Amino acid sequence: MTGVQLNLCRLDEIPEGGAKALATVINGKQQPLVAMRRGEHVWLYRNCCPHFSVPLDYNPGEFCTYKNQLIMCAHHSAMFRFEDGLCVDGPCAGARLESVPCKIEGDALVMLECNAVIVKVG
Ligand code: FES
Repeated sequence: MTGVQLNLCRLDEIPEGGAKALATVINGKQQPLVAMRRGEHVWLYRNCCPHFSVPLDYNPGEFCTYKNQLIMCAHHSAMFRFEDGLCVDGPCAGARLESVPCKIEGDALVMLECNAVIVKVG
């Protein structure tokens, strides 16, 4: 198994209690991601709502988060928990955002993918 890692951004580029859009290309396909942060904890997901497979942001890179715990989809207000991506309210309750393996290394958020070619864009 070949491990590929990609330094995505500094932790302080993700707003406390908020979210940041990240653009990547994996195996030649654009993969928009979203990272949420609460203190030293960061979670990384594909920026794709399980309801209609569209990005969660209102405008590119503009997200609505609630009480440092939930991110809301711009389209039909589904609410997802930071820590596990579970939809706890809205039209796709019980569904989850697709998590992306990551780790914190120093002050950076690092994406982990196996057997993938990753290119960071933007
Ligand atoms: S597309 Fe996200 S809640 Fe409908």
